[in-house]
Amino acid sequence: MKKDFLCLSDWSRAELDGIFALTRELKEKQKRGEPHRLLEGQTLGMLFEKSSTRTRVSFEVGMFQLGGHALFLSSSTTQMGRGEPVKDTGRVMSRYVDGIMIRTFSQEAVEELGRWSDIPIINGLTDMYHPCQVMADLFTVIEHKGAIEGLKYCWIGDGNNMANSWINAAAVFGFELRVATPKGYEPHPEVVARAKAAGASILYTDDPAQAAAGADVLNTDVWASMGQEQEQKEREKAFAGFQIDGGIVSAAAPGCIVLHCLPAHRGEEISNEVIEGPHSVVFDEAENRLHVQKAIMATLMGSRL
Ligand code: CP
Ligand code: NVA
Repeated sequence: MKKDFLCLSDWSRAELDGIFALTRELKEKQKRGEPHRLLEGQTLGMLFEKSSTRTRVSFEVGMFQLGGHALFLSSSTTQMGRGEPVKDTGRVMSRYVDGIMIRTFSQEAVEELGRWSDIPIINGLTDMYHPCQVMADLFTVIEHKGAIEGLKYCWIGDGNNMANSWINAAAVFGFELRVATPKGYEPHPEVVARAKAAGASILYTDDPAQAAAGADVLNTDVWASMGQEQEQKEREKAFAGFQIDGGIVSAAAPGCIVLHCLPAHRGEEISNEVIEGPHSVVFDEAENRLHVQKAIMATLMGSRL
């Protein structure tokens, strides 16, 4: 039975810990230059309906390092962009490739692709979630702080796909997450409700300093996500004050780390001083996309060897 990676809350703590253990092993092997061709001869199809730097490059390089191959397919140059149904794309791709990574708008489309494909599907970002990024974020936390447990986490900014995936992570891993967004830009209410029903401690405020007080991990993302470009000006007004700057870092725990999935807009959601400063681990975080996604692909596609 194939398994997809569409949303963190579809996976158990033990399964995600297994992915982190494999990530560690693959990262060490890659650093030592040792072969780790777990997906020899396999192909990943990468479907993109939105822009990307990190996701595209890390998945493609990751497949190469695992002994496989990746195909970049954009909606503008495939029949997807001309309206071919997801259920047909899924059935056709299943005959050619061994797994699909998709970046698109609707989470429902990704779920539909999963239902109509015989091969594993990986969510490379939707409007709703960005699970691979949050896995890389959590792995970065483990590397810098030793463990996921026993830390206070804080999200400041838009209640977007990243915030929703962090809320899912809080439920799966059982950590406290404080979320500060402007009113009207809260995370998805159903995601919050499901996480709370699963026992997650999600504390909401519209005061960034209150959310940051004593936090070990500070995290933010752009004010206007892909697809919201026309809202940029109104969002700049609504999000004024929701910036991770020196004041927010001072309110956090002394050894706090600052995460940002990138790309960042310096002077908006994060100050230049903070992203370039000693608490920032954003480039380790970006690197970990490669390692964690190799472990995700090997876990999902490895059994097909
Ligand atoms: N963080 C992230 O997913 O970056 P890209 O949009 O460049 O893929
Ligand atoms: N929230 C951002 C993340 C980009 C990696 C977006 O969806 O554009």
